[in-house]
Amino acid sequence: FSLKSYNTFGISAFAKAYSATTTTQQLKESLGYYVGQDIFLLGGGSNMLLINDIQKPVIHVLLKGMEVTRREENNVFLKVMAGENWHDFILYCIENNLAGVENLSLIPGNVGTSPIQNIGAYGVELKDVFHSCEVIDLKSLEEKTLTLADCKFGYRDSIFKNDAAGKYVITSVTFKLTDLNQTIDYDFKIGYGAIKEELDGLQGDLTIQKISQAVINIRSSKLPDPKVLGNSGSFFKNPVIKRTVYEDLIRMHPDMPSYPLDENYVKVPAGWLIDQSGFKGKRYGDAGVHEKQALVLVNYGDATGKEILDVAHKIQQHVMNRYGIKIDTEVNLID
Ligand code: EPU
Repeated sequence: FSLKSYNTFGISAFAKAYSATTTTQQLKESLGYYVGQDIFLLGGGSNMLLINDIQKPVIHVLLKGMEVTRREENNVFLKVMAGENWHDFILYCIENNLAGVENLSLIPGNVGTSPIQNIGAYGVELKDVFHSCEVIDLKSLEEKTLTLADCKFGYRDSIFKNDAAGKYVITSVTFKLTDLNQTIDYDFKIGYGAIKEELDGLQGDLTIQKISQAVINIRSSKLPDPKVLGNSGSFFKNPVIKRTVYEDLIRMHPDMPSYPLDENYVKVPAGWLIDQSGFKGKRYGDAGVHEKQALVLVNYGDATGKEILDVAHKIQQHVMNRYGIKIDTEVNLID
C-alpha cells in the first residue's frame, strides 16, 4: 500500500498493511485485531519523514466531527475529533467568532496529532487553548481523558513524546475558546514581530479574522505549500543553549537573533544558524533546503527519505562545526 499521498513530504514508501478508521468503533476494532503487536498510527502525515517502508500495520485515524460540549461564562468548549484537518477547525472557529487559535492558522496536519508536539506559531501554542483530550490505551483498549496538566506540555514537547510515547492513540481534543459573540474582553496575541508588521497593512479594527489572515499571509510567503512542494514544516527545533555559551557566541556573531527563555537559557533560531551556514536554497538531487526558510527541508519530486535525512545530517554536522550547537530534528524520523 503506497503512503506517498499520506505524508506531506511526498515520500514514496509502502506499508505492509493499512486500515482506515473513520469511527471510534472501527478504530477500536482495528486496535483489537492487532493488540500485542507493534502498530503504526497515522494522522495527517505532516510531521514525519519515512526513511524506509513501514513493516508494521498502519492504522489511519480519520475520525471526524466537531461539537460544542459545554458553555461556561464566555468560554466555549469545542470537542474536535482526531481526523479533522487542523486548518478546517481553525476556519470553523474564525467563522463562528471563537477566539484563541487564530494565530495557529494554516498549520498542516490533523487535530489529533497536534498535542504530541504541542504545535505552536506566532506567539501561541496549542497548550494555551487545550482543555483535555480523549485517548485509547493501546494495550488495554480503555478510553481515558487526559487533562492539560496530564499532558506536560513544553516547547514542541508533551507526555506523548516521553512517558506516554507509544501508549495511546488520541481520538479527540477539546479546546477552551473565547466566545466573541458573548464578550469583547479578549486579549489578541499580536506581540510577534511579523504579525505586527503584517497587521499594519490591513485596515480597520483588530479581529480574529484579520489576525488569521495576517498569519496566512506570512506563512504562505515563507513556507512552502506541501501540496506544491513536499515538506514537513520546520525540520529542526530551535536549540536551547546555556546563557554562558550564548554570551561567547554573540561576541563572535553579534547579529545572531535569540529569544531569552529564563535566567539560564536562551533559544536560538535554527533557521538563522542554517542560513548562515550557507544552506538556504541548496539542492542535492531532489532533496533540498527551502529557498525562503532554511528551517524547512523540501522534496522537489522523487527524493527518498534517506536522501532528505542525508541533507539533514550534513546541516547538523555543519552547524555543530561552526557554532558548536547541536540542532535536533522536530520531524519524527520513521525508520
Ligand atoms: N531566519 C534566518 N534565515 C532563515 C530563517 C530564519 O535568518 O532562513 C531568522 C529570521 O530572520 C528570524 C529568526 O531566524 O530572525 C526566526 O525565524 P522565524 O521568525 O521565521 O521563526 P522560526 O524560528 O524559523 C518558528 C517555528 C515555526 C513557526 C514560526 C512562527 C520552530 C522550530 N519553528 O520558526 O514553526 O511557524 O516560529 O512562530 O519553533 C513548524 O514547527 O513547523 C513551524 C513552521
